[in-house]
Amino acid sequence: MAGRWKNDLTHADVTPKAAFLNRRQVMAGAGALAAAGGIGGAAWAKLNAKPSQYSISEEPNSLQDITTYNNFYEFGTDKGDPARHAGALTTDPWSITIDGLVEKPGEYSMEQIMEGVELEERIYRFRCVEAWSMIVPWVGFELADLLNRVGVKPEAKYVAFETLLRPEEMQGQRRQFIDWPYREGLRLDEAMHPLTIMATGLYDEPMPKQNGAPIRLVVPWKYGFKSIKSVVRISLVEEEPHASWNQLIPREYGFYSNVNPERSHPRWSQAKERRVGGGLFAQKIPTLMFNGYEDEVASLYEGMDLINEHF
Ligand code: MTE
Repeated sequence: MAGRWKNDLTHADVTPKAAFLNRRQVMAGAGALAAAGGIGGAAWAKLNAKPSQYSISEEPNSLQDITTYNNFYEFGTDKGDPARHAGALTTDPWSITIDGLVEKPGEYSMEQIMEGVELEERIYRFRCVEAWSMIVPWVGFELADLLNRVGVKPEAKYVAFETLLRPEEMQGQRRQFIDWPYREGLRLDEAMHPLTIMATGLYDEPMPKQNGAPIRLVVPWKYGFKSIKSVVRISLVEEEPHASWNQLIPREYGFYSNVNPERSHPRWSQAKERRVGGGLFAQKIPTLMFNGYEDEVASLYEGMDLINEHF
């Protein structure tokens, strides 16, 4: 499947962290993190993630871009709100309840979840449905590893995810425009795909709070809203689960939401995207089918109408 990449040297192979984290970025990023209350120093937050064959070779966005231009409506709707307000979130202790159609249901602490996990760096394209994009050097592990550890029962067809509900710390949850908690879902084969990761960091540091600390989903071939942050529940289920944006405006946001330049959003085209950090006069770049991961994931959707039915 990833044969095309096997022989290619990726950015992760050839560029040590220090080379793409130039001093200005480090300083700016450190400031951004400090502004959001800092990053956790929890014992499970291991660094030194290994490079991965799944990383792309494009230069990542700066830590500053990735930590100051965010969507995390639990902290407000402005792009700068998460960096301003997410410092209030307590991320240690943290646990994830894994339930539904699994052999070993339970409430797992972060320490238990991270036990024996080998973290990898995954440099992925990240494409928001709002037509902006970034390149993010995530750190994480395959969701399939976690699901295999808890044992998926044969009747399970989908995976449902939930973000923390804690309006005392998440000020955006005091307004009821989304039916909190934020929820998302994947079909089981999408969840088990090796590109699908649970990310616990970026730029080889623990996950900044505004990006979904301490642990979030990343599904690089889907629009960014599928990549749910600060996950506290993972449920294996038989029916297609509730997903927040799909439920709120089903005509605009489908359950699948695979990146697709040929299917316009009812209010804007998805054919091109603006790379964040490219400057005011930068040309928009063409959006790629499945966000450039077509070779890896197209087979999951064989025979499905991705424009009218399963968008
Ligand atoms: N997860 C939660 N819980 N709440 C959110 O508002 N926003 C989504 C997604 N996950 C969101 C979320 C959207 S719209 C995008 S584009 C990405 O997170 C943004 O991730 P980033 O801020 O790390 O770039």
